[in-house]
Amino acid sequence: MPEALVERARDALDNAYTPYSEYTVGAALRTADGTVFVGCNIENANYSNSLHAEEVAIAEAVKNGHTEFDRIVVTSGARDGVTPCGMCRQTLAEFADEDLEIVCDLGGEETAEYTLGELLPNTISLDTLEAAAEQRDAEE
Ligand code: THU
Ligand code: ZN
Repeated sequence: MPEALVERARDALDNAYTPYSEYTVGAALRTADGTVFVGCNIENANYSNSLHAEEVAIAEAVKNGHTEFDRIVVTSGARDGVTPCGMCRQTLAEFADEDLEIVCDLGGEETAEYTLGELLPNTISLDTLEAAAEQRDAEE
């Protein structure tokens, strides 16, 4: 049996809205207190407004007051081990440390596991901006 979080991500695929790519993606995000939020991709006729599964799951979590994450599973209908795209990695980095576990579904019980730090090293964050602000203040 795959872990429960993988099942949640796979279940989320059922609601994916993908008339353009027909490539379904599901995500299940576990927060620090163990609550799980799921998302699926939701495409749009202008293409650029398409929402990614991870974005939808993160939005669900944040709008419900959860901003600390410890694990996210991402899956696709193709079970091809899809990883979060660059944009989604950056969106995760807004809330998660580099030790966030990112689990990519390869079908059955097979997964590829990464940390956010591996997939997005040296990212810009709130810390970056605060450090720069402090430097400006010190220079005044
Ligand atoms: N997609 C996601 O939902 N998450 C990602 O991080 C990668 C891409 C979606 C967007 C689009 O609906 C489809 O996969 C094909 O790119
Ligand atoms: Zn993405």
